[in-house]
Amino acid sequence: MWTELKAKAAAVADRHMLDLFEADPDRANRFSAQTGDMRLDYSKTNLDDDTRDQLLALADAADWQAKRDAMFAGAPINQTEGRAVLHTALRNLDGGAVMVDDADVMPGVLDTLARMRSYADAVRGSDITDVINIGIGGSDLGPAMAAQALAPYHDGPRVHFVSNVDGAHIADTLRGLDAKTTLVIVASKTFTTIETMTNARTARAWMKDHGGDPSAQFAALSTNMEKTADFGIPAERVFGFEDWVGGRYSMWGPIGLSVMIAVGPKAFDAFLRGGQAMDRHFCAAEGVENMPLMHALVGMWHRQVLGHATRAVLPYDQRLALLPAYFQQLEMESNGKSVTMDGKPVAVESGPVVWGAPGTNGQHAFYQLIHQGTDVIPCEFMIAAQGHEPELRHHHDLLVANCLAQSEALMRGRSLDEARAKVADKFTGDELERQAAHRVFPGNRPSVTLAYPLLDPETLGMIVALYEHRVFVEGVILGINSYDQWGVELGKELATALQPVVEGTESADSKDGSTRGLVAFIHRHRD
Ligand code: F6P
Repeated sequence: MWTELKAKAAAVADRHMLDLFEADPDRANRFSAQTGDMRLDYSKTNLDDDTRDQLLALADAADWQAKRDAMFAGAPINQTEGRAVLHTALRNLDGGAVMVDDADVMPGVLDTLARMRSYADAVRGSDITDVINIGIGGSDLGPAMAAQALAPYHDGPRVHFVSNVDGAHIADTLRGLDAKTTLVIVASKTFTTIETMTNARTARAWMKDHGGDPSAQFAALSTNMEKTADFGIPAERVFGFEDWVGGRYSMWGPIGLSVMIAVGPKAFDAFLRGGQAMDRHFCAAEGVENMPLMHALVGMWHRQVLGHATRAVLPYDQRLALLPAYFQQLEMESNGKSVTMDGKPVAVESGPVVWGAPGTNGQHAFYQLIHQGTDVIPCEFMIAAQGHEPELRHHHDLLVANCLAQSEALMRGRSLDEARAKVADKFTGDELERQAAHRVFPGNRPSVTLAYPLLDPETLGMIVALYEHRVFVEGVILGINSYDQWGVELGKELATALQPVVEGTESADSKDGSTRGLVAFIHRHRD
């Protein structure tokens, strides 16, 4: 099937998207998916009905619907770790039973959610002025992203996020905070992650030294009750979850506590409802109607069929500045794998490199390469119909115009003739040719646009769940396990082994020449 798709792609490679619009006046609607008030427009791509059907057949051949149902039903689809994948249960607010090993997990989920709500209310009603979430990866990126995204809804204490083991991160965060009115939340699924535990111990020492009370001002979010107790955090301030919640899928539960404290339980519930609405859509919508399915297939058309190695996430929303980094972990840790479930090599390229930054800033930084570089970079634009600042409507109009203009420019391009006409009044002869060549835009470059009315908590929940399910579909079609992350292990092991070498208590002799040289350099240049 891949071969057929690649052959088809090669056959239509020179076709211009503008001709597709010309031939089909309804293309924009027919190549968009809609759920609620959200619209995913993928018409500015080189997909046609045939290729779309072929991609849908690929998904069907992978049995994506049965696998989706198995995930929602609590089957152990994370086969390398023997675990269910049930972040969807965390937003199953009014849903029915979800069984894992013959036991309904929902009473536990709802009980923890109720405890989170009352704890969040208590913190919001207390003297706490600042909350620091200490975590990394999935225990940081999700809540940090959501806290920023939902800034207009903040009416609780300020929230801060410390992730990097670089002492600069915690030092800069603690500076200026009052230890007596700061709450530290240690967020770690395993409660063993070296960065998080190092930062947690530093924060505890700071609190003690500055008149705070770590025995009362620390909370923990984890699956590891033994370790949270060892750290000295009493059970009533530990919010637990189960191993069937993957780190990068965990912001819906206890890992979202800092967000709940910032925006309040009501707004957090709305975020969960948004995720749940996308779940329902994903489970009910058929074929081209299914937004996560189509988002996955369009992405695979670009990555696995056309071979574009990267994908740019370009939210035209300053408050979604951390979304590209969040999606980067979601996609790259989930689908950056070389072997299928049965340990055999994957048939095609694995997931793409995901990167990006908010518009319009990126336009003044890296869009040059997107428009005129030699690599094609499929772009994913995001835009809200309205902003949260009605008094600054003209800003938002400019933002929207820029977002739409970029996808139009990528598609339309500028021909040599048009480029010549642009500068014909300034240059002639060879110089005109030379100058015009620099002003050519190849065009016919693909993008998708996700549009929604307003970035409110519910919409944010829909966006995150949309991307989660998209990653799921991609993983199913690739035949890989999207829910493990063995690729992070080796570096961790080697860092542990290198620590005494860096500290100078062990020799670097067993290391390769480059590592030995770098260790020697570091040692020479420190006090
Ligand atoms: O090293 C990768 C990873 O395991 C991620 O998958 C995870 O989100 C992150 O580390 C943090 O892990 P934990 O929540 O257990 O501290």
